[in-house]
Amino acid sequence: MTIAGGALIAGGTAGYLWSDKRNFSRADIKRAKDDNPTLQPNEEEILFLASLAPSGHNTQPWSVQYLDPYHWIIGNDKTRWLPAVDPTQRETMLSIGAFLQNLEYAAGSFGYVCHSDLLAKTNQDERVIEVRLQKHAPKTPFDITKIKNRRTVRSHFLSEPLRNDDLKYFMDSEPESIHYLSAASPQGRFISEQTIQANRLQSYRDAAQQELSEWIRFSSKNAEKYRDGLTTASMEIEGIPGWVVRNFYGKSAVMKRDFRERAVDNAKQEVSESAGWILITSRDESPQELLETGGRMQRLFLKARGRSVAIHPMTQILEESSTKETLTQSLGMPEPVQFILRSGYVKRYPPPVSLRRPVGWFVRT
Ligand SMILES: Cc1cc2nc3c(=O)[nH]c(=O)nc-3n(C[C@H](O)[C@H](O)[C@H](O)COP(=O)(O)O)c2cc1C
Repeated sequence: MTIAGGALIAGGTAGYLWSDKRNFSRADIKRAKDDNPTLQPNEEEILFLASLAPSGHNTQPWSVQYLDPYHWIIGNDKTRWLPAVDPTQRETMLSIGAFLQNLEYAAGSFGYVCHSDLLAKTNQDERVIEVRLQKHAPKTPFDITKIKNRRTVRSHFLSEPLRNDDLKYFMDSEPESIHYLSAASPQGRFISEQTIQANRLQSYRDAAQQELSEWIRFSSKNAEKYRDGLTTASMEIEGIPGWVVRNFYGKSAVMKRDFRERAVDNAKQEVSESAGWILITSRDESPQELLETGGRMQRLFLKARGRSVAIHPMTQILEESSTKETLTQSLGMPEPVQFILRSGYVKRYPPPVSLRRPVGWFVRT
């Protein structure tokens, strides 16, 4: 018995030692010099900074066709679409808009001004926008550490409402497209209830769950291999639960009842600790407006850390047709809502952890 028990403990310890012990995150990736000889060092850095933009399920739906030095076509990568939750590629275009905003800020910090020509006539066109960077007399550059440190935060929000000076700073010159609803207001409470409802609908919609399962990188090995999608670190699953997910979960777990229920419980918990909701609207739903709205969201997102405000996009209301319809009828907003961002102050702002593909993986020369 004692020998068998000892062997079991030894086996268990060895098993633990060999297991996937730690959340793999951005800091674990050493950026190697890209072996693409065509790219100039500044081009590499500008495109890397652009790629730090947020995207739904972290699919990173952009591509870059290299025409000449500092002359590219930014593309929409069909293999990275999310047809179950984003059938019209609305979110894809918003994410590419955020990428373009980062690109413009990053280019400016290296002394370039960005000229662009829209090519896309629909959200499905592969060629989205042609970009040319031109050397420019230096002006006050954007602080690129804001791009490097931006991240989605999902937990430990304080419930204290956002202060007026912070809201004014976030809305800046575009108050007509950015709306704040405090969590305690009737409209804020409505968004909270509908977010939970939409999460429940989505968790029990098999196509949406199946799609989600394709973008979860359960193990560190897969996270490192693909450098995209959702990891235990980016989903903020820490400690023993993180260890269990990394070592024992796979795609099939996402379709199980307890996984779906836990997603709804998580949404309830998250919603219960919000200070308020930030809604971002667009004039219409044309490719140009969606790109601009992605940029508008990114400009706000990049300001948030400096004010200790956590931002968490929760887009399920817009992804489920019944809740989307209720939202449009109930809020009576004159313009379509494109982003629903949960917001709140945090005591400690965590470092960014989500992964990005190396530049050479999305540039085609
Ligand atoms: C259009 C869009 C929709 C998103 N929807 C959600 C969402 O519904 N729930 C969520 O937790 N995060 C959502 N996100 C955040 C992404 O998951 C996040 O940006 C991505 O994982 C990369 O992480 P990072 O923002 O920390 O770099 C969304 C982001 C974008 C741009």
